[in-house]
Amino acid sequence: MATSVPVLTIDGPSGSGKGTISRAVAERLGWHYLDSGALYRAVGLASAWEGVDLSDPDAVAACAARTDIRFENDEAGEPRVIVNGKDATHQLRMETAGAAASAIAAYPAVRAVLLKLQHRFRRLPGLVADGRDMGTVVFPDSPFKVFLTASAGERARRRHKQLKDKGVSVNLDSLLHEIAARDERDAGRAVAPLKPAENAVVLDSTGMPITEVIERVLALLPESLRRR
Ligand code: C5P
Repeated sequence: MATSVPVLTIDGPSGSGKGTISRAVAERLGWHYLDSGALYRAVGLASAWEGVDLSDPDAVAACAARTDIRFENDEAGEPRVIVNGKDATHQLRMETAGAAASAIAAYPAVRAVLLKLQHRFRRLPGLVADGRDMGTVVFPDSPFKVFLTASAGERARRRHKQLKDKGVSVNLDSLLHEIAARDERDAGRAVAPLKPAENAVVLDSTGMPITEVIERVLALLPESLRRR
């Protein structure tokens, strides 16, 4: 692992705004961006496509090892996730993909396959890594760690708006339930549970404008790294 390359880890529960904040911060810094949740979602999806039994950890880990996942930008500059050659961006954002990801993310063998892949994203000039265990397991040596959270109601509302903007209609109450169930599973699992790293700065973004969250995150980095 290229430990001399700076990494800013941003962990937190679903709907905490990690994705939006991490992308914006990476853009401001001119750093690479790792959406680790998309990797788990992609493995869940590829397993479903191949008819792999999601309750069989070894079969899912084998599928993870052979799945080709690429992050690209389309002509409009919008991020796309290509899974085994197919544009899976839309499908991956659905809550069903999130639930499948959360189920297979509890398997140590799957996490081991994805760990190696995630380390490869650490490239100069730096990396913003978004997920659940970026600061605790994947890049524990990083001195720059954020644990981003928000109230459950606000997280469900944000996710609801995000899906609505993408033309997906979902019921807010059922979304709140699904998100709560996923967070409980993510926080309660034995391997890499969702929790702040010891040296993480916990940031509650409830009611906070995105621009302020971005500035607060950037302020954690020394001036020398913030200069482009
Ligand atoms: O962040 P996102 O909602 O896309 O993540 C989907 C699921 O993938 C999470 O609920 C979690 O179970 C799993 N995940 C994980 N470790 C990460 C990122 C995501 O276990 N670093």
